[in-house]
Amino acid sequence: MKRIFSGVQPTGNLHLGNYLGAIRNFARLQDDYECIYCVVDMHAITMWQDPAELQANTREVTATYLAAGIDAKRHIIFNQSQVPAHAELAWVFNCVTRLGWLNRMTQFKDKAGKHRENASAGLYVYPALMAADILLYKATHVPVGEDQKQHLELTRDVAQKFNNDFGKDIFPIVEPLIYGEATRVMSLRDGAKKMSKSDPSDYSRITFTDGPDEIAQKIRKAKTDPQPLPDSTDGFEGRPEAANLITIYAALADITADDVLADYGGQQFSDFKKALTDLAVEKLGPVGQEMQRLMADPAYVDSILKDGAERAEAIARPILKEVYEAVGFLNVR
Ligand code: TRP
Repeated sequence: MKRIFSGVQPTGNLHLGNYLGAIRNFARLQDDYECIYCVVDMHAITMWQDPAELQANTREVTATYLAAGIDAKRHIIFNQSQVPAHAELAWVFNCVTRLGWLNRMTQFKDKAGKHRENASAGLYVYPALMAADILLYKATHVPVGEDQKQHLELTRDVAQKFNNDFGKDIFPIVEPLIYGEATRVMSLRDGAKKMSKSDPSDYSRITFTDGPDEIAQKIRKAKTDPQPLPDSTDGFEGRPEAANLITIYAALADITADDVLADYGGQQFSDFKKALTDLAVEKLGPVGQEMQRLMADPAYVDSILKDGAERAEAIARPILKEVYEAVGFLNVR
């Protein structure tokens, strides 16, 4: 069977963009693939994380996976740090990855910002760890958002170079799975910016801790333009906020943006916003409630992660062994 690997960083403030752009889609792949979903805590610490918050956020992402309907019995949910083979394979990949490849990574440039000398070495080799995550399980498909495509390209380069350098066909060449209407959910305050956990304005994003009143308020305050809604997606040109709100509606309702405009085209934003609020409350409410229920039972969440780590490890160990042999590490134990 085809195998999927994907990961979400436990860096807090999980929002609608994470859900519609990633986690909800993870749940939809369960019948067609063997799925391994990771909480990538080792990637998280490439930027400073408060230790107590990192623990809480790791449980939060796990709870979101479960609340979104991922079946942890049939598939695997675990946190990265608990399977040491990720770090071990990442070291080998640090020695396969070329500096020139890493220097081209736009995410590093964005995250490091102006003070590049001050960024961690971990942030720089982040893509090599991500390649290790995926290839440690010989995953064939990786559901990701647009922003991770460059990292997946690098994963393919690492796999190819490794196979070539050692003259063995160990790693598959992975395929990205880019999904659905809302691969990119934008900020409610600025349709040109991605919805982000680090946006200083709470009004820029909807989170799972938002109740119906907060969701209503955030959608009411969402930026729009003075025109009525366009009749089709052709009318999105130069209207990023309209495009974003319609796209969110389409994703929540599981229809296309043009379907939404067939109903709301020509209308004012105010009526549409009421409908969007009702839909968001209806679709997100149950997920949020299930998350809260799970977060109240950390021992249960931890037991899911423990079981997942053990099963992930059982797949990863023999593959790491194969790699160590190919590389020429002398096995004496
Ligand atoms: N870099 C990904 C992100 O920030 C998270 C991630 C880490 C990941 N390892 C992965 C995604 C492996 C897919 C596969 O979204």
